[in-house]
Amino acid sequence: MTDLSPSDAAKDAAARAAVALVRDGMRVGLGTGSTAVFMVHRLAERVRAEGLRLRLAATSRATCDLARQLGLTIEDLDDIGWLDLTIDGADEIDPDLNLIKGGGGAHLREKITAAASDRMVVIADPGKVVETLGAFHLPVEVIPFGWQTTRAHVQRLLESLDLTQRPMLTRQRDGRDFVTDEGNMILDLSLEAIPDCRALSNGLSAIPGVVEHGLFLGMCDLALIGSPDGGVIELARPEVVE
Ligand code: A5P
Repeated sequence: MTDLSPSDAAKDAAARAAVALVRDGMRVGLGTGSTAVFMVHRLAERVRAEGLRLRLAATSRATCDLARQLGLTIEDLDDIGWLDLTIDGADEIDPDLNLIKGGGGAHLREKITAAASDRMVVIADPGKVVETLGAFHLPVEVIPFGWQTTRAHVQRLLESLDLTQRPMLTRQRDGRDFVTDEGNMILDLSLEAIPDCRALSNGLSAIPGVVEHGLFLGMCDLALIGSPDGGVIELARPEVVE
C-alpha cells in the first residue's frame, strides 16, 4: 500500500497497531468499514509471514469476502463461540470511548460480535474523536414490517428526550432503500449532539421493530488513533468508579 492519502495513512497506522495485538491462537472478530479494510490486509500479511493460527469471525459479508480473498479462513461466530479480541472502526469516539457506529450499515453484526469479545479495540483516524456524540448521523436498523410505525415511535422518543433533529432519513443506496446483511432497513437520525446517550440507547432498544442502533456504550476497551505520519495515540476507557 503506497501513496496513501493522509487520512488513509492514519487508518493504516491504527490498523497496524491493532494487528500487533494479535497473538497466535487467538479468536478475533474482524470489523467493517474502510479502516477495517486496512486491518484485514495487515492481519493477512501477518498470517502469511508468521503462520499465525487464528480463528476469525467477520462482522459483515463485505469483510468476510475480503478476508477470504486474502487467504484468511472465516468461521461463523457461533462455531467459535467467544472471541478474545474484536478490532473495528467507528464513526465517532467520545472521551469515555462510547461510539457511534453503523456508517457502513453493519452495526448489528458488529455489536453482536463486540459483545461476544473479551476486548473491543477501535481503530480510527483523528477525525473520529469528538467531545460529544451526535454530529454523525445515528443509524437505527429497523425491520421492514411496519417500519413507518416504528419510525413514528422513534420520532416520539426523540421528542420526549428533547432531541431536535433534521428529517429522519431512510438510508438509500443506488436510488433504493439500503438493505442490511440481515435484510433490514436503516433510519439515519441527524441529532447534532446527544447529551444523554444512555437514555437514547435504552429508549431505542425498547421500541418494537428496532433491531439495533449504532450507539456502542461501554463496549470499547481501547481506541487506537492513527496519524498520517504513522504515529498512534492510545485512548483507554476511563475507570468507572462505583
Ligand atoms: C460499519 O457499519 C461501521 O460501523 C464502521 O465501522 C464505521 O462506519 C467506520 O467506518 P470507516 O472506517 O469506513 O470510517
